[in-house]
Amino acid sequence: MKFKPRLTSLLSLFIAGMLPGALIAQSSLIPIETASNALVLRVEPNKDLRIAYFGKRLSRSDEYGLVASVNHQPSDPSDEFNSAYTPSGSRNLLEPAITVAHADGNYSLDLRFVSQQVTKVNDDETLLTVLLKDPVYDFEVTLYYKSYYKEDVIEQWSMIRHHEKGNVILYKYASANLHLVSDGGANGFWLRQYHGDWAKEMQPEETRLTHGIKTLDTKLGTRANLYQPPVFMVSLGSRPATEDEGTVLYGGVEWSGNFRVDLELDPQENLRVIAGINNYASPYTLAPNDAFTTPACWYVLSDKGKGDASRKVQRWARDRKLLDGNGNRLTLLNNWESTYFDFNESKLADLLKDTKKLGVDLFLLDDGWFANKYPRNDDHAGLGDWQPNRSKLPNGIASLVKEAQSDGVKFGIWVEPEMVNPRSELYEQHPDWVVKQPKREEHYFRNQLVLDLTDPKVQDFVFGVVDGLFTQNRDLAYIKWDCNAVIFNAASATLKDQSHFYVDYVRGLYKVLERLRAKYPKVPMMLCSGGGGRVDYGALQYFTEYWPSDNTDPLERIFIQWEYSYFYPAIASSNHVTDWGKQPLKFRTDVAMMGKLGFDIVISKLSPQDLEYVQGAVRTYNDIKGVVWHGDQYRLSDPSGNSVASMQYVDEEKSRSVVFSYLVNYRYGTGSLLPVKLKGLDAAKKYRVSEIDLYPGTSSRVGGVYSGDFLMKVGINPDVHQERMSVVLSVNEEK
Ligand code: GLA
Repeated sequence: MKFKPRLTSLLSLFIAGMLPGALIAQSSLIPIETASNALVLRVEPNKDLRIAYFGKRLSRSDEYGLVASVNHQPSDPSDEFNSAYTPSGSRNLLEPAITVAHADGNYSLDLRFVSQQVTKVNDDETLLTVLLKDPVYDFEVTLYYKSYYKEDVIEQWSMIRHHEKGNVILYKYASANLHLVSDGGANGFWLRQYHGDWAKEMQPEETRLTHGIKTLDTKLGTRANLYQPPVFMVSLGSRPATEDEGTVLYGGVEWSGNFRVDLELDPQENLRVIAGINNYASPYTLAPNDAFTTPACWYVLSDKGKGDASRKVQRWARDRKLLDGNGNRLTLLNNWESTYFDFNESKLADLLKDTKKLGVDLFLLDDGWFANKYPRNDDHAGLGDWQPNRSKLPNGIASLVKEAQSDGVKFGIWVEPEMVNPRSELYEQHPDWVVKQPKREEHYFRNQLVLDLTDPKVQDFVFGVVDGLFTQNRDLAYIKWDCNAVIFNAASATLKDQSHFYVDYVRGLYKVLERLRAKYPKVPMMLCSGGGGRVDYGALQYFTEYWPSDNTDPLERIFIQWEYSYFYPAIASSNHVTDWGKQPLKFRTDVAMMGKLGFDIVISKLSPQDLEYVQGAVRTYNDIKGVVWHGDQYRLSDPSGNSVASMQYVDEEKSRSVVFSYLVNYRYGTGSLLPVKLKGLDAAKKYRVSEIDLYPGTSSRVGGVYSGDFLMKVGINPDVHQERMSVVLSVNEEK
């Protein structure tokens, strides 16, 4: 390894003051500091902008300038390895963050530092903007770094603009560009990535990154996460981070369409991460003076393992990102799996009564309530015709909302407003509103096509579908927004630049959601996409919750929810008790309690004991839901590799906690052989451990008063085994 001290940068060392609104043109180092970390940019004497450091915050910020003297420094021509926003076509030979063709057809870009500005948004948030310009072309990029001090989260995005004499074409336009130096002597980066399919969301794979580029991406347009979600986890060091040890970086692209994350292990053993919109089939033409703003990419770094990183992300999401992240949620009864498309007013009237009997807040009417010429009796027809089906619902939605009210429950409804079945009046009336190739045969996904949200007329229509429901039914309390198809044959009948399609689709969708949220700021909405085909923080700014998967088999859900929990808070996870899986009702309910509880079972067919159990479970949930929704989440025992999985939630005051444990391996003799050590409690406090959510006729086998110290050092045995496959413990401070 060759070390080359950077004398030039040491001599020009000047630390930028983090003053509100300060404009400083000549700083050499630009530190972005959060409670535990620092991402430090460095302006080279030639005005290149580099990443000097990304790691634990140093006590003396003047020492960030010394990092270059001890790190392995690249030699020419690889100087651009740690560029803070890597241009292409000039001195960079690795994967670029940005590629453009100038108005004169030239493909080279160079970006040099011009100025920076720091704005303190509030006590927690600081926004750094850095202006870069090409010395030859009248082309500029502004980098944005929004840092969240307490949570150690940074959001990064960029704005691209030019004043050339003609249009510029953007071929690549990433949001974030990072450069990571591996931890300690043992260099290495481990990527935890996810793949999936319908009912198989968030399947993890963990591998050591090898040289070259690993790309995580999607090209599906809508339902974009069907095969791969836009999140990643990178451990730095000789082995993957564990829950409590190791340095780990989590990140994600806040974009509900095609995304791309490139992880490039460079020739100097450092990792470059370039993330943003996928530039696949998407060259974007930018007129002079117009601005192209990329979506944000978020990331968090922790040297205390995966648990700490995820608690920070979850807190950030609740406080800053997720709609109403610190608010309440509605428990519900959904009719999808109990009726599918086969229902009428009298069946629904019974279900409304069942909702009340069960004790949940709301009844959610799913797919199948609409369309008349081509009734929605299965998934072949009707999408697009959002008028209540007259034979199923002769008195419309309004009468159902009223009936719900008289039963003392709220009413919510399913929509899939971005989609159309070719067998629909909408398709007959507006064939040009549909995404399809004019000269090619239509190709369907779940017998449907996607509406062209790049077209403002279609945006108005989609807004109108949901707005109409609210204006006609003022007491409508909940929306489940579905999106079941991917985009085949991507083309718009109206878009001038077809290569803008994928980007403008998502922008169109966000415009609709913004309009809806301006008018209906708080109505809870579930983000669903044939299961978890659209879960990202771009969309979750408009939604209160997401649907992780159509797979509600509780055993599978333990794994799926476990992986989602690294990136998203429990309050956002809609978990329904259904008839999937072979586990007892209590097991299914306990799993669904680790998030926002709902039911999709036939209440009228439950045995008296089962009914008594679920009614009690809803009451128990109402008691503990505050801790699950707003508390810190600790993963105690991983379902992969252990026969018992355990998850814990602790409230902010460390006075209440809930621990869920499940048997996940049914081989002979498996169960909780050892105590599980709790986390996040106050060592000095005394806690009463009691078993809750018991099935009628069974009795508690675990309990007692212990100190937090004991529970964290020795633990408690939930006594999970084949006859007690799931156990919920409440751990409450004993005053
Ligand atoms: C998707 C959703 C389901 C259900 C159906 C209705 O598959 O994920 O929950 O709403 O659509 O068609």
